[in-house]
Amino acid sequence: MAASIQDRFKENTEQTVIDTSKKVRVGIIGTGWIAEAHLASYRNQPDVEIVAGADLVEGKAEAFFKQFDMEGVKCYRSHAEMLDDASLNLDAVSICTYNRTHAECAIYALKKGINVLLEKPMCVTLEEAVEICKAEKESGKVLSIGFQPRLDENMKMIKKIVESGRLGKIYYIQTGGGRRRGIPTPYGTTFIEDKTAGIGALGDIGCYSLDMVLNAIGYPKPLTVSGYKSAFFGTRPDYYPTHPEYAEKFEVDDFAAAFIRLEGDIILDFRIAWAMNLDTPGDTIILGTEGGLRIPSTECWNGSVGGEMTLYQEICGEQTQTKIPVIGDGTDFNKLFDRKIRSFLDAVKNHTPAPVPSSQIIYNQAIIDGIFKSAEAGREIEITIPEF
Ligand SMILES: NC(=O)c1ccc[n+]([C@@H]2O[C@H](COP(=O)([O-])OP(=O)(O)OC[C@H]3O[C@@H](n4cnc5c(N)ncnc54)[C@H](O)[C@@H]3O)[C@@H](O)[C@H]2O)c1
Repeated sequence: MAASIQDRFKENTEQTVIDTSKKVRVGIIGTGWIAEAHLASYRNQPDVEIVAGADLVEGKAEAFFKQFDMEGVKCYRSHAEMLDDASLNLDAVSICTYNRTHAECAIYALKKGINVLLEKPMCVTLEEAVEICKAEKESGKVLSIGFQPRLDENMKMIKKIVESGRLGKIYYIQTGGGRRRGIPTPYGTTFIEDKTAGIGALGDIGCYSLDMVLNAIGYPKPLTVSGYKSAFFGTRPDYYPTHPEYAEKFEVDDFAAAFIRLEGDIILDFRIAWAMNLDTPGDTIILGTEGGLRIPSTECWNGSVGGEMTLYQEICGEQTQTKIPVIGDGTDFNKLFDRKIRSFLDAVKNHTPAPVPSSQIIYNQAIIDGIFKSAEAGREIEITIPEF
């Protein structure tokens, strides 16, 4: 009761007038699992017409739209076939393919002058990320990367706390998370085979932890990384009681850790797990000269906060702890997805910068790439991002 009275005084920041006079013509590339969330959110927008879909698997795109009674949507057998059809007059595409084809689909769409919402992780390698950024620059179109946790009020609070100066100079960050058992194979093996995923837990959920803290501190440039990766669980046939054959197909990491030096003399200590003999590898902590912030990890790491945060400060000589309650519906996946789609559409329509720009996410990708390469080399490496 008390909460609802309080709510009456709150400003509704999500109430905006949407111009529906011209519909944004959207195509969906890759009609697998996450494409459903894209479709649902686009359908919640009054100014969108979904006109096309593509999937490499014969009949998959057709079946996808049929289950939502959308038989009128034109279906294609590849991103190129769809993007080559000029009669579609596409304004934007969502790229919902597995990681390995992110780069080729994004580059192809941008070269055709089409705005792109690209699922996370941006791609597999740093080299691919650079090519995507080049294509974006040449096209002048919007490219946004699909990090919906960015639109969570709790995530925004982390950034606000950092920007308020309450933590002082930040010098050390620990981040990451994971699951005790949670290799994502319920819909098949596209997350665990090299030819489709390219990277495992590191790219799938590691990118979220990195974005949580790097976005909060303004995405400083990564300088060096000493990385480790392993695959002790995914390669065990007994891990998959109903599909022991998946063990043979497992070619990516199910655990990764790294020690990363960032510009500004900041240390980033990172670990991520799809599977481990532990509930969590630890909370996210941000240490500064004036304060510290603890962000509880979740059981199933997906880029959201796991509970109330704690701000540690010394006030007038006393050591204090301030609890920051979880804010609103910020962790509701569907609502975050709606906001991700809306913010992308607004950028496309208003010719404003991408809500999650590649200029930041290239550093996220550079760290992932650096961890992978350092782990392969067995030593610390320098991160060099080519000019583009
Ligand atoms: N933002 C989120 O919360 C979230 C959640 C899950 C997955 N994802 C990301 O979304 C991506 C897809 O995940 P998923 O679970 O939907 O995978 P999925 O394997 O279920 O679906 C991918 C589909 O893309 C198709 N495809 C691949 N290359 C193609 C191409 N060139 N043209 C047309 N179709 C192509 C495949 O045939 C497949 O059907 C991954 O990169 C994943 O990391 C994001």
